[in-house]
Amino acid sequence: MAGQQKETGRSHWKSRFGFVLAAAGSAVGLGNIWKFPYITGENGGGLFVLIYLVCILLVGLPIMIAEIMIGRAAQKQPVGAFEELNGGKTIWSAAGWMGVLAGFIILSFYVVVAGWSMDYTLKSIVNFTQPIEKEAAAETDLFIATADMESMQNYLIDKRLADQARMGESLLEREISKRQMDAFARFQAAVSAAEDPEEARRRLLTDEELQQTVTHVEAIQQQMQELRKGIEEQVRADVTGISDETLFRQVRMEKRRELVLAKVGVTFGNLYTNGWQSLMWAFLFMALTVGVVAGGVSAGIERACQILMPTLFALICTMVLYGAFQSGFPAAVSFVFSPDPSRLKPSGVLEALGHAFFTLSLGMGAMMTYGSYQSAKTGLFQEALMITFLDTLIALLACLMIFPITFSYGQEPTAGPGLVFMSMPLAFAEIGTGGMLLSILFFGLLFFAALTSALSLLEVCASYLIDQKDWSRPQAALATGVITLLVAVPSAFDGDPDTLLGTWHADYGKGFFDTVDHLASNWMLPLGGLLIAVYAGWVMPRKLQEAEVKDIPSWMFQGWLFVIRIVAPALVVVVLLQKVGIFDV
Ligand code: PFF
Ligand code: NA
Repeated sequence: MAGQQKETGRSHWKSRFGFVLAAAGSAVGLGNIWKFPYITGENGGGLFVLIYLVCILLVGLPIMIAEIMIGRAAQKQPVGAFEELNGGKTIWSAAGWMGVLAGFIILSFYVVVAGWSMDYTLKSIVNFTQPIEKEAAAETDLFIATADMESMQNYLIDKRLADQARMGESLLEREISKRQMDAFARFQAAVSAAEDPEEARRRLLTDEELQQTVTHVEAIQQQMQELRKGIEEQVRADVTGISDETLFRQVRMEKRRELVLAKVGVTFGNLYTNGWQSLMWAFLFMALTVGVVAGGVSAGIERACQILMPTLFALICTMVLYGAFQSGFPAAVSFVFSPDPSRLKPSGVLEALGHAFFTLSLGMGAMMTYGSYQSAKTGLFQEALMITFLDTLIALLACLMIFPITFSYGQEPTAGPGLVFMSMPLAFAEIGTGGMLLSILFFGLLFFAALTSALSLLEVCASYLIDQKDWSRPQAALATGVITLLVAVPSAFDGDPDTLLGTWHADYGKGFFDTVDHLASNWMLPLGGLLIAVYAGWVMPRKLQEAEVKDIPSWMFQGWLFVIRIVAPALVVVVLLQKVGIFDV
């Protein structure tokens, strides 16, 4: 139990468990449920996940320990902490400043995405109580009443063939790796560009590896073609052969599904392009965040996390359990856990390391600030391990919750940022009325996860005003919230085609939103993390460190010291140098 430090008047967590929950609340957020699954999808799954885990272990965990250590020792937020430990302003204070600034920037786009999760939760509730299904059913009846037999048959044939084509494509993807596909495309291009294609083909195929690839791909293409011909005849025969009654029933089913999907696409699809609505939700979300932070460290943040985190965990487990009974579950598990080197781009490695900082809330002093509200001098390593473990667990569970559903309902894992906000609603719509219930759970949990993270982002900035400028907590929280919301305006209007920002987005190819996300997540956090690692490894007085780890065996401390001095900084430096463009990947 962390005791109260009455003499300094600084607020503290009620219990160690409360601290761990709040810190895990900070870590577990949009990064786990929105970002991690889609970057895993974009980077081809398995191997990316493995590299990510290595980054968490070699860079994330050690820096997590360093941040909590510094915060606990200084009993101050990042700007004050370095001053406190160094006995005055030094160059290290800049690291603290950058942290506050990064928190500010991240929060400004975080509230926009978090706002969408609120909007989607509400829409799911509305859709659940007044099913889109009913509307779709009415329209379907109309279609059947007005169409003749032949057009209904054709409608059904087209649908079946489209389904088959989609299945064929995903089969191709599974049988032929990305690298094989690329090699084959290059081979084909070379052959068709040559003056004598036959000769070019023979010459190129003397390369043994290429020959194998080409044989493999062509064999599968051949198979597919025969299959497709057979299927087409089969489908025609089937559809023309069925009784009128069956035809009606099947057309009704297909039509209804089509209409429901289209409607969900419309209700859920237009938020990104609607700036005012995005801003309204961001405002609401920010008001909630400010309210909790103003309530105080233990009465506000700790209490909120004690309710929200267990609920979030229960919701995730429910969704994973649902996924486990879906047809796409095995494919999802193998996508997430079996490494396939051909699907990983080199840039994926860098993305994995960058994401390790973001997901663990490292590099900007959030963990430092939360650590500073702890007065215990024991249990540092266990706490850091626990927080890191929980964050990683939730990220993996998020994949196991999302991919079975997308795989089972014909959505692609590579859908990018839209995976959660576009593909998931479509999948839920396919599931039907029960799907809307799942949708409520899913977006509700996304909202909870975002809220507990936003608390820590706001707290870093607010605690600066409280500690260094003697502001009252409610004042500090409110001021930070208002200013951040102003900075959030361009992010909210980022995709709105009717505004200057939306236009700029189209011209420049990258929006304000992506730009600030990139700046904060890929530059400021790794840079901040590097400074923190160097400070903890090389500058922080040994005496202060030892006071924080008295309960740890010396080999463990020495091991950490080695990693934080050498391994973690080296890895981060490599990534930063790559970003400057030193290496050619
Ligand atoms: N860790 C949060 C996530 O994964 O969504 C994001 C975050 C929160 C980053 C707090 C940084 C921070 F200080
Ligand atoms: Na996270």
